[in-house]
Amino acid sequence: MRRWVVAIDGPAGAGKSTVARLLADRLGYIYLDSGAMYRCVALLALRGAVEPELATPLAETAEILFDPAGIGEPQKVLLAGEDVTRAIRTPEVSQLASKVAAVPGVRAALVRLQQALGAGGGVVMEGRDIGTVVFPHAELKVFLTASPEERARRRFAELEARGEIIDFETVLAEQRERDERDQTRETSPLKAAADAITLLTDGRTIEEIVVELAGKVMS
Ligand code: CDP
Ligand code: CDP
Repeated sequence: MRRWVVAIDGPAGAGKSTVARLLADRLGYIYLDSGAMYRCVALLALRGAVEPELATPLAETAEILFDPAGIGEPQKVLLAGEDVTRAIRTPEVSQLASKVAAVPGVRAALVRLQQALGAGGGVVMEGRDIGTVVFPHAELKVFLTASPEERARRRFAELEARGEIIDFETVLAEQRERDERDQTRETSPLKAAADAITLLTDGRTIEEIVVELAGKVMS
């Protein structure tokens, strides 16, 4: 039987990466973080001082590789052989990622890559447009979300643990700005697919959500 494509979409800090990775481990599926690809293009633009609107050639030629980490380990992201796992997670790259992600040519190049990576099934892919654009026929579509304050609290805790010096109000404001840009762009705005199940994750543990979703997948 064909192994499924599971599409998980939602705003920043909803828990997509954590849930998708654990769900993939549990199912023996491959985990794919599409946001990391937009972040890689943003890092290239930042380093090359390229305006976001001109980032399409960067996306078309970027050599992005995911290192299949061991179970429970964070996935490594390699850009032209360099380990950029940490470098792509800074607040600066987050903002720039949502700017390059609004450029149709950037999206076209990365969507092609994502479709090729997921073509064989047996993947959990997370992002903003996986269930609406990348895999509109995914067997399971999930829209994961939480209140803005809860999402910002999670992201703040993550940045603090990493030693980034930033205050909560800044995290909340930057998140609001990014959500707004992701939801209002013309190409593939963030929205739930009509046939997605929506899960509000406020007050829910990661384990609870993973168990609920695993129960919906026939492996
Ligand atoms: O990928 P996305 O931005 O949607 O979120 P994430 O990076 O998976 O989650 C952001 C943070 O929230 C992580 O540190 C998670 O461990 C935490 N989280 C949580 O505490 N409770 C949840 N139900 C989901 C995520
Ligand atoms: O982890 P977090 O939710 O903060 O962000 P991410 O998933 O790493 O994505 C970073 C940015 O890439 C988002 O703000 C979106 O603008 C963009 N993105 C997108 O447009 N489409 C996707 N499928 C994934 C990410």
